[in-house]
Amino acid sequence: MRGLAGSLRNPSGFGRGSIEGKTLSRGFPLKCMKNKLENLRKQILEELSKAKSGELLRELEIKYLGRKGELSNILRAVKDLSEKEKQEIGLLANTIKNDVSAKFYEIKKEVEGKEASTSFIDVTLPGKKIEQGHLNPISIIQAEMEDLFISMGFMVADGPELESDYYNFEALNIPKTHPARDMQDTFYIDKKNAAGEYDLLMRTHTSPVQVRAMQKYGAPLKVVVPGRCYRSEATDARHEHTLCQFEGLLIDKDINFSHLKGVLELVGKKLFGPETKLRMRPKFYPFVEPGTNGEYTCLLCKGKGCRLCKNSGWLEIAGAGLVHPDVLRAGGVDPEKYSGFAFGFGLSRLAQLKYGIDDARLAMSGDLRFLSQF
Ligand code: DAH
Repeated sequence: MRGLAGSLRNPSGFGRGSIEGKTLSRGFPLKCMKNKLENLRKQILEELSKAKSGELLRELEIKYLGRKGELSNILRAVKDLSEKEKQEIGLLANTIKNDVSAKFYEIKKEVEGKEASTSFIDVTLPGKKIEQGHLNPISIIQAEMEDLFISMGFMVADGPELESDYYNFEALNIPKTHPARDMQDTFYIDKKNAAGEYDLLMRTHTSPVQVRAMQKYGAPLKVVVPGRCYRSEATDARHEHTLCQFEGLLIDKDINFSHLKGVLELVGKKLFGPETKLRMRPKFYPFVEPGTNGEYTCLLCKGKGCRLCKNSGWLEIAGAGLVHPDVLRAGGVDPEKYSGFAFGFGLSRLAQLKYGIDDARLAMSGDLRFLSQF
């Protein structure tokens, strides 16, 4: 069939088809291919004998022996030949490849030896600048936050980004029918559990690690969790499907709201300067009671009111509150003995505010024109 198709496309059996091997079912094109290979061998050896510099050798190596080189092209076409042709041409092509490679190696050694003995290092020339990478703006803020919390005795923990419905929602007091789920729509994994439910998803926040950490380490506990989260967003300058958060959890005896306030105040001063003020307004989150919004005086206008803070003088930065007893129980901690506070910062938003980034999609874009500015 291959022969027929080939001969229809290329009835003479010559030309394009002959070297690609597609029409090589009769004697002459096979011979033609052999000739071509032999000529190639001659040509390579001739050019090689003239190559006097390492640079030229490298060029020849790429041209003839590289993955896209002429020999490799021929070897690739061998798979389309009939069994008999394959054997003949394959053997020949391989022999040539081996011969030529050996010659390359030999000449390379010779040339390199010569270059080494004749080259010298001119120490008076200006040095070559080595390009240095640097951190993404989100990583910079993350490191600052980690430093601050480590200095207060918190541990830094990690959790899975592919999370179960239970940890992401259920254990945090967000049952199946809860409207809070609508605000955190995410990407579900297309695989049902034994009960026939889709229960694996990309975590929508870092809060599930609260329960995981309590289960693992028990109480008392001081932990922060930086990490990526996902939301099924129609992306635009203010929304990105992948965002970074920074979660915190402190569990101990007699923890109250003023402890939370003290810690959030410290974070504000560290991030935006010592004169930064905090205000806390009630906000509902199913996993804390009471819940609050942490707002800081605007870093641009210092509270006077500007475009960034929509003239309010305040920027909404964190969600926080005292850990709900149900969540403590889910983590295996007795709410009669222990209490705690939790908070969640949007690291991506912090980076945007701090560095004046006006498009949420840039930080994760990998675009060096943007990244090299930090
Ligand atoms: N997980 C919340 C979100 O993604 C943020 C948050 C709010 C975290 C209150 C907390 C908290 O720990 O106590 O919107």
